[in-house]
Amino acid sequence: MDELKKRIREEGIVIDSDILKVDQFLNHQIDPVLMQHVGEAFAEAFVQSSITKVLTIESSGIAPALMTGLKLGVPVLFARKKKPLTLNTSILTTQVYSYTKKVHNSIFLEKAMINSEDRVLIIDDFLANGEAAMGLVRLIEMAGASVEGIGIVIEKSFQEGRSKLDRAGYAVYSLARISSLADHQVTFIDND
Ligand code: G4P
Repeated sequence: MDELKKRIREEGIVIDSDILKVDQFLNHQIDPVLMQHVGEAFAEAFVQSSITKVLTIESSGIAPALMTGLKLGVPVLFARKKKPLTLNTSILTTQVYSYTKKVHNSIFLEKAMINSEDRVLIIDDFLANGEAAMGLVRLIEMAGASVEGIGIVIEKSFQEGRSKLDRAGYAVYSLARISSLADHQVTFIDND
């Protein structure tokens, strides 16, 4: 997605050769028009998959997921990282390992929100090691629903996540694929 790559090039800040800061439009301040275009791109990519629900994880996945759900005309569900007081009915939960923080965290969904008829599209802001995406896959499979695809705004292709999801057989569609963040430069896989 050229518009997204341009914003990454112009506003992204490379931190530590493996972390990209995009707080101007995705992770802190959110650009609604860019997110609308992101949602349109995901909807176009998965329009043939008869999606019934979009699933993401709080917090930065919510904006792109919401715009995708709006365009596809389906509800958007987000996994919680803390069990809220109101989530005291039947829940689905799994552990997600964070490579950046070196800890396991539980994520939660209310069971009633998803059922075996659902055809689910996972959306997330970043794909690094794929742990969050695989956690969402497990929650969907616990509900007996199907994973129809995974849409990622920014994929760091030099980390494990993409190959992990490919090996597991999921259809991954990333709008910007970064092959390297070395020397404080963002290099995209298709080199444009
Ligand atoms: P993984 O899920 O792919 O295995 O990723 P990892 O554990 O390494 O990353 C944990 C958190 O860091 C996730 O956000 C993920 O989106 C974010 N992250 C990973 N790489 C980058 C990066 O290069 N830049 C930025 N900006 N974020 C990155 P989170 O902790 O769940 O935060 P949030 O969704 O509440 O913002």
